[in-house]
Amino acid sequence: MSDEGLRRSVDKMTEAGVNPVAIQVFRHYYEQLKSGATGLISEDSIAPLTEVDRLADQHPDPEAAQQALAQTVVIKLNGGLGTSMGMDRAKSLLPVRDQKTFLDLIVQQVRSARERHGVRLPLLLMNSFRTREDTLAALAEHPDLPVGGLPLDFLQNSEPKLRTDDLTPVEWPQNPDLEWCPPGHGDVYPALLGSGVLDQLLEQGFRYASVSNSDNLGATPDPVLAGWFAASGAPYAAELCRRTVNDRKGGHLAVRRSDERLILRDTAQTADEEMDFFTDEHRHPFFHTNNLWWDLVRLKEVLTERDGVLGLPLIRNTKTVDPSDSDSPEVYQVETAMGAAIEVFEGATAIVVDRSRFLPVKTTNELLLLRSDCYRIDDDGTVELLADSAPEVSLDSSYYKKIGDFDQCFDQGAPSLREATSLRINGDFRFGAEVTVRGAVELDGGAEQQLIESGTVLQ
Ligand code: UTP
Repeated sequence: MSDEGLRRSVDKMTEAGVNPVAIQVFRHYYEQLKSGATGLISEDSIAPLTEVDRLADQHPDPEAAQQALAQTVVIKLNGGLGTSMGMDRAKSLLPVRDQKTFLDLIVQQVRSARERHGVRLPLLLMNSFRTREDTLAALAEHPDLPVGGLPLDFLQNSEPKLRTDDLTPVEWPQNPDLEWCPPGHGDVYPALLGSGVLDQLLEQGFRYASVSNSDNLGATPDPVLAGWFAASGAPYAAELCRRTVNDRKGGHLAVRRSDERLILRDTAQTADEEMDFFTDEHRHPFFHTNNLWWDLVRLKEVLTERDGVLGLPLIRNTKTVDPSDSDSPEVYQVETAMGAAIEVFEGATAIVVDRSRFLPVKTTNELLLLRSDCYRIDDDGTVELLADSAPEVSLDSSYYKKIGDFDQCFDQGAPSLREATSLRINGDFRFGAEVTVRGAVELDGGAEQQLIESGTVLQ
C-alpha cells in the first residue's frame, strides 16, 4: 500500500473544490487507516462515569437562563441519509404527523421558543451534498426563519470512498456521485469553521450552540439547559440519559484512565468480546444522546489552535460503493462522531436529562410509534409521550425496513398503539384504517401480503 492512494484522494478532493481544512482532516485519517487503526477502546483503559449532574436538580436564575438562550444558536445535523431506513435523502423531510415533517416540527419548535422567550435563536442545519437542495427548498416555505443575515445551513464536507484492497479512491463511472460520502457528523467542526459560519455567529454575538440530530424531536430549545451550561463555564457539554435494560445500543461516556479525560465510546469502538460490559446498564449507567452544548468562543480557540484538525477517533465503516449492489467494489468510509470531541475540551462536562429529550427515529419501528397515538404533538411542535413508556414495536425487516414498503403497509394511518405493550410482526401485513392494538400482539404470516381490515381490534 503506497501513498498513491492518499495522493489521488487529495487530488480528487482539490479538483472537486473541497475545503482545505477538510483535506487536512482527511489526510490525518488516511494515515491512521493505512497504519491499520481500528479505533477500539478497551474496558480496562476506562473507568465508568457514574456521578453526573441532573437537569432536574438545576434551577438557574430565569433571567440568566433567558440571556443564555438569547445567545444560543440551534444546530441540527441533517447530512445523513437515513440508510438504515433505506433512504437516500434527508430523513427530516419525512412526514411525521398531519403531513408535517421532522423539519416542519423543528421550525415550529424554534419559532415558538423565539416567541415565548423573546430570543433570536437562529436555526442552522448542517447539510451534506445529498440533503442540501431538498432541505433548503422545504425551508423556503418559512420566510420568517432567517436571522440577521445568517445562512440557514452550512455544507458538510465530502471525501472519497476508498477501496478496501488498496486504499485508492474508488471509481464508479456508472454513478460518480457514489464515489463520495460525507465523513460522519464529527465533520461538523471543520465544516463550521471552514464555511466561515462559526465566525459569522461570533460576529453577531452568539456564544452558545445547542446541537442535536434532526431526527431527534425531543431536543427542543431549552432555557434551563442554556442557563445551566452558561453558568457551568464549561467549553462543551453532552446530554446523557439514564439507561434501562432495553438501551443496549448507543454510546456512553467514560473516564480515560491515562489522562482522566471524559471520552465517548460507541459500539463501533468496542471489541465483540467486551460488548457485555458496553451493554451493562449498571456498569455504564448513562447513554450519550448526541445532544451537545458548545461555547462557540472556546470552540473557535480550540479549532484554530489545531488548524481545524481535532483528531477525533476514527470510525472505519466497510460498505459497497453502491449500497444497493452488493457486488460492487468494497470500500471504506472514514467517519468520526461529533460527540467524540468531548475528549478534546479540557473542562468538558455532562448532564443527565429526562428521556423526553431523546426521541430518535433510526428505524421504521420508531417511526410507527411516533406516527401513532402514543405521542401527542403540541402546537409548539413538542412531542409528548402519552403513557409511562412506549410499547415495544418490532416489524419484520423483510417487509417494513425500507420506508417505501413501510408506507405501503400503513398507507391508511398508523394503528392505535396506546393500549399496546408490544407489537411484533413477522410476515407481510397491510393495515386498514383505525386498527387498534391492545396488550401484547404478535402477528405471524408469510411473504404473501395479508390485509388487517379497517376497524380491527388486535389483542
Ligand atoms: P446517524 O448516522 O446516527 O443517523 O446520524 P442516520 O441518518 O439515521 O444514519 P443511517 O444512515 O440510517 O445509519 C445522526 C445524525 O447525524 C446526521 C444525521 O443526519 C443524523 O441527524 N449526520 C450523520 C450528518 O449530518 N452527517 C453525517 O455525515 C452523518
